[in-house]
Amino acid sequence: MWQIHQAFTMTHEFPVCFDRGTLSPDNTLLADIVALAGKGCHRILPVIDDEVLKGHPDLIDRLKAYADTHSERIELIEPPLMVRGGEICKSEPVEVDEFYQRTQTDRIDRHSFALVIGGGAVIDAMGYAAATAHRGIRLIRMPTTVLAQNDAGIGVKNAINYRGRKNYLGTFTTPFAVINDYDFLSSLPDRDRICGMAEAVKVALIRDGEFFHWLHQARERLAAFEPEAMEHMIARCAELHLNHIRTSGDPFEQGSARPLDFGHWGAHRMEELSGSELRHGEAVAIGIALDSLYSHAQGMIDTETLLAIRDTLEGVGFTLRHPALEKLDIDAALQGFREHLGGKLCITLLTEAGHAEEVGEIDLAMMHDCRQQLLEAKWPA
Ligand SMILES: NC(=O)c1ccc[n+]([C@@H]2O[C@H](COP(=O)([O-])OP(=O)(O)OC[C@H]3O[C@@H](n4cnc5c(N)ncnc54)[C@H](O)[C@@H]3O)[C@@H](O)[C@H]2O)c1
Ligand SMILES: [Zn+2]
Repeated sequence: MWQIHQAFTMTHEFPVCFDRGTLSPDNTLLADIVALAGKGCHRILPVIDDEVLKGHPDLIDRLKAYADTHSERIELIEPPLMVRGGEICKSEPVEVDEFYQRTQTDRIDRHSFALVIGGGAVIDAMGYAAATAHRGIRLIRMPTTVLAQNDAGIGVKNAINYRGRKNYLGTFTTPFAVINDYDFLSSLPDRDRICGMAEAVKVALIRDGEFFHWLHQARERLAAFEPEAMEHMIARCAELHLNHIRTSGDPFEQGSARPLDFGHWGAHRMEELSGSELRHGEAVAIGIALDSLYSHAQGMIDTETLLAIRDTLEGVGFTLRHPALEKLDIDAALQGFREHLGGKLCITLLTEAGHAEEVGEIDLAMMHDCRQQLLEAKWPA
């Protein structure tokens, strides 16, 4: 037997910036980021979520004006690639194919950039396209929803759906950079603004008690989408997600534990059961409430914490009861989650606001009781 032990390490680094007015000609952030790739002029293909363009009809003109001002660094490839916003671009990924075609017709190589401006779905699908064309084209993401800015658009994953299976095809690939420009949120429907807050409550509960306390205090300002409160919520949530990816020791999710999936084991099932009427954030909010009730029933968190969680979720605008919760087959959903994790069940529960613990077993009768309490809004006094 002869064996060569092959091993090497690679550092992954990318800036995640928080800004406003990124495409104002006098704002050098984007040009400076492109310059990190080296001297000279770099080709950029803009890839745009069509709903974002509807909300910001001058976007293409602004991109052109920006590229003109920074022509020593940026050569804009025209026209931009337009992508249907929302889950459709992941379920029927025709734009992924269009992206591959554009890389050929527009001479986009591994030194060129794709600048993807859109919600989490467009970022996922086009991130997948960019990661696979030429085995990887430089990707700058400009997320335009709350969820994309505080979670989906800042991490290391991308995906499209395959034959009805969500996120079945995808890669772990770090972007070149992420620019969260809060100005894009001005056109976002209220419902989507609320949805993005579920992940902030989630990550606060498992990682940062002080941030949870802040969310609880700020719930009315968040419900009114006060810009300062929204920006703090997004930035801190993004920071906690990034800290997790950097320090968990498992950035590419090879282990079984998925603490960031707190409240998520039933969420995907409830989204499906509702025929996608229930959005991801709305399902996660219900999932957080259910797993918090269960943590309380297990004696792991006190009543005050439990009620603060309820008040925060309802306070920012979530409804914690939905027919999909009633229909949820708890046993099957846990089984599905076990498979998703690779065979070993690992559910995150709370021990206090800001601290979580993994458990390998769920008391089904108790979980059924908690679901009933949630459906009847019977919270412990
Ligand atoms: N890769 C990851 O780590 C990760 C993590 C979490 C979620 N996700 C994925 O993210 C997706 C959900 O993302 P999302 O919540 O951003 O929703 P979304 O991308 O589906 O966007 C919701 C709707 O808002 C539109 N939109 C986007 N920005 C807008 C704006 N500024 N103004 C007006 N309309 C706008 C979109 O076109 C879409 O119709 C899911 O596919 C999910 O699987 C990925
Ligand atoms: Zn989520």
